[in-house]
Amino acid sequence: MHVLITGGAGFIGSNLVTYHLEKGDKVHVVDNLSTGRIENIAPYMEHPDFIFDEADILVWNELEKAVNWADRIYHMAAVVGVFRVLKEPISVLATNIAGCERILRALHTSHWNTKLIIASSSEVYGNRSEDELLSEDMELLISPGHNSRWNYSISKLADEAFALSYARQYNMDVTVIRFFNVIGPNQTGKYGMVVPRFVRQAVREEPITVFGDGTQKRSFLDVRDAVIYLDMLANNPQSRAEVINVGTRREISIEQLANIIKNESNSASSIEYISYDDAYGKDFDEIFHRKPNLEKLIKFTHYLPQWSLEKSIIDLIQRQHAKKEY
Ligand SMILES: NC(=O)c1ccc[n+]([C@@H]2O[C@H](COP(=O)([O-])OP(=O)(O)OC[C@H]3O[C@@H](n4cnc5c(N)ncnc54)[C@H](O)[C@@H]3O)[C@@H](O)[C@H]2O)c1
Repeated sequence: MHVLITGGAGFIGSNLVTYHLEKGDKVHVVDNLSTGRIENIAPYMEHPDFIFDEADILVWNELEKAVNWADRIYHMAAVVGVFRVLKEPISVLATNIAGCERILRALHTSHWNTKLIIASSSEVYGNRSEDELLSEDMELLISPGHNSRWNYSISKLADEAFALSYARQYNMDVTVIRFFNVIGPNQTGKYGMVVPRFVRQAVREEPITVFGDGTQKRSFLDVRDAVIYLDMLANNPQSRAEVINVGTRREISIEQLANIIKNESNSASSIEYISYDDAYGKDFDEIFHRKPNLEKLIKFTHYLPQWSLEKSIIDLIQRQHAKKEY
């Protein structure tokens, strides 16, 4: 199979590269290396089944050719990470919306019945109460925030609307994935992702910095389970024109997460609390709960994750110890 991955030098994208090359597929990556890293794909540069183009998907002139070549496309390229979203509010909207539409348009004009997987986010659910299970068919919330955090959700909502419209109007085989928090190898803490940041701090015996009071909760899916879900969904014809949550049901607070990482790494780090104002600037809107309804995911895949949170964290701690930089 021929697999095109936009954003393939990034966290989830590079894990998709590993997964598909190991299966014997041919993989073509396009990435502008804005948050992606060449180290993530360096092991494959000489691989006979791997092609890498450093380019911006908004202007890449090989896009139509690559889409024609592909049997499957994962569209992962986007401006992501809370820090980047707050700092570059226009590029979040412009890149995420125009990039997605460009892929859809290229697929529409191609000759092949290619499967397209588009990455959306649980951020589209907005702020919810503790007991609410987030289901794909519920109404979505965008808060009238004072800052630009909601631009990311708006961009992902626009991508979903484009994806479903192309799928319905032109009978294209498109599936939208609403990722909840994904963790694992190749993720960087540089742009606000909490697990790699805590692991790095714990291993370096620096203070583990919790933003807010640590009561905000998240659920974490290992990327090695996530890529299996994506492949299974792509192979299931029922996923056509569907929006599907991808995540895990176990929710834990960020304070609990800090303690698990501290304990699993036997770290002497202190746990320190930093106000949202100091971490992100004034008027940051936190999302306190994100618990996915996974009925649709289970119905379409019949797969249960193999990586518990503790198993993922132990693996990430070992990888952090093995890094030369620390
Ligand atoms: N990781 C998560 O927990 C999570 C949660 C929800 C949604 N998502 C979505 O999943 C996708 C992948 O996220 P990730 O965590 O791997 O992030 P990432 O930043 O590691 O990957 C995104 C990749 O896209 C590339 N990119 C950005 N703009 C580009 C452009 N204009 N042209 C070409 N390449 C470009 C970046 O360099 C990067 O390699 C994103 O669409 C993101 O919104 C991720």
